[in-house]
Amino acid sequence: MFYEPKDGHGLPHNPFNAIVTPRPIGWISTRGSDGRDNLAPYSFFNACAYEPPQVMFASTSSKDDRDGTKDSVANIRDTRVFCVNIVEFAMRDMMNASSAALARDVDEFAHAGINKVDAQMIDCPRVADAPASLECRLVQIVQLPGAANFTVFGEVVGVHMRDDTLVNGIFDVTTFSPLSRLGYRDYAKVEHPFSLSRPKE
Ligand SMILES: Cc1cc2nc3c(=O)[nH]c(=O)nc-3n(C[C@H](O)[C@H](O)[C@H](O)COP(=O)(O)O)c2cc1C
Repeated sequence: MFYEPKDGHGLPHNPFNAIVTPRPIGWISTRGSDGRDNLAPYSFFNACAYEPPQVMFASTSSKDDRDGTKDSVANIRDTRVFCVNIVEFAMRDMMNASSAALARDVDEFAHAGINKVDAQMIDCPRVADAPASLECRLVQIVQLPGAANFTVFGEVVGVHMRDDTLVNGIFDVTTFSPLSRLGYRDYAKVEHPFSLSRPKE
């Protein structure tokens, strides 16, 4: 089948985010200028540069108690910092609980029973037990076409890796099984990585 998004797909559910898969999940922690902590998963997330290391995530739609966006983007607009926490399979239920559309003054760490610690380089919380966390300073927020579509770019200024994830100097994903987002309500657990050598020039 073929469809033009402007005309609709005619299917029971939108296939778009099932086509762009698997997606990593950036579990974004922020601290509001009022000192309240926030945590939410974003699967429109990726790394986008090596030197200096940079990441991005995209926020779509808005909350009634925020000015045209969600808590994460609103906090980052104010404070210009955020932390990306990597989600392991074992944290799937806590990650999901932290995605609830809660009032802006609710701390999702407390709501979902997630341990937090302060970041090292920035004034921001991070998930204490995450396999890895990236402390980021805002580079740019880009507004995209449509209502409340924002892409946030950040420079990674601090990297945490949990001790058990490092095996012989390699950040070994088999130690924790990253969670990835598929379409609809589906997820995948990364369990069977394999290697390919790049072709020689
Ligand atoms: C696995 C997962 C991935 C999500 N990815 C996104 C995303 O990429 N962009 C987005 O706007 N919302 C995404 N959401 C929904 C947000 O997590 C949800 O709207 C959350 O309440 C936003 O929290 P905040 O207002 O504290 O930022 C996702 C939810 C889940 C469970």
